[in-house]
Amino acid sequence: MVSLETPRLILREMTPHDAPALYAVLGDEETMRWYPRSFTLAEVEEWIARQIADYPSGAGLLGLVLRETGQLIGDCGPVWQTVDGPPELEIGYHVHRDRQNQGLATEAARAVRDYAFTTLGCGHVISLIRPENLSSRRVAEKNGLTLNRTVFWRGFDHCVYSLAKASSQ
Ligand SMILES: CC(C)(COP(=O)(O)OP(=O)(O)OC[C@H]1O[C@@H](n2cnc3c(N)ncnc32)[C@H](O)[C@@H]1OP(=O)(O)O)[C@@H](O)C(=O)NCCC(=O)NCCS
Repeated sequence: MVSLETPRLILREMTPHDAPALYAVLGDEETMRWYPRSFTLAEVEEWIARQIADYPSGAGLLGLVLRETGQLIGDCGPVWQTVDGPPELEIGYHVHRDRQNQGLATEAARAVRDYAFTTLGCGHVISLIRPENLSSRRVAEKNGLTLNRTVFWRGFDHCVYSLAKASSQ
């Protein structure tokens, strides 16, 4: 079972019981403004079910649990995406509106990056981000990724940020 630890967070596999807490994130219109629309509770339940199906492969978004309170405040993890070539491992993240701009996505994304390189043995990781989503672009940069290319993907322009595994990793 995958579980990663950072100073303030535990990243753990989600269960169906996490749906209400994650709905507070993915169901929020402001948080989801760069997506076609916010999620319904049923869509969050499906979202969690998809991650659970991916966990045996080592991929899947993990729940972000605040060590201090035990509260689930978002998700972050590796997700296989087919963009314009062979599948690539994306680091995705969503953080509750009340907890944004505290460095939590960056903290989680760095742990997932290291996990992807060391445990999954990936040669590179990406993050797919709408150009207007400046906070997400900033997280990618703080995670060491740089802008690699721009693609039209799922109906919108997306920046593809990328980082190759260092030879020492
Ligand atoms: C993107 C997201 C995960 C970032 O989470 P977070 O925990 O707030 O991220 P961090 O605090 O680690 O870093 C945010 C950075 O963006 C910066 N930022 C925030 N709003 C910004 C804006 N409008 N313009 C430029 N930079 C901005 C912050 O200042 C911070 O950078 P800094 O540390 O250099 O000051 C969060 O905003 C979110 O959940 N957004 C909605 C879902 C989403 O878009 N996910 C990504 C899909 S690609």
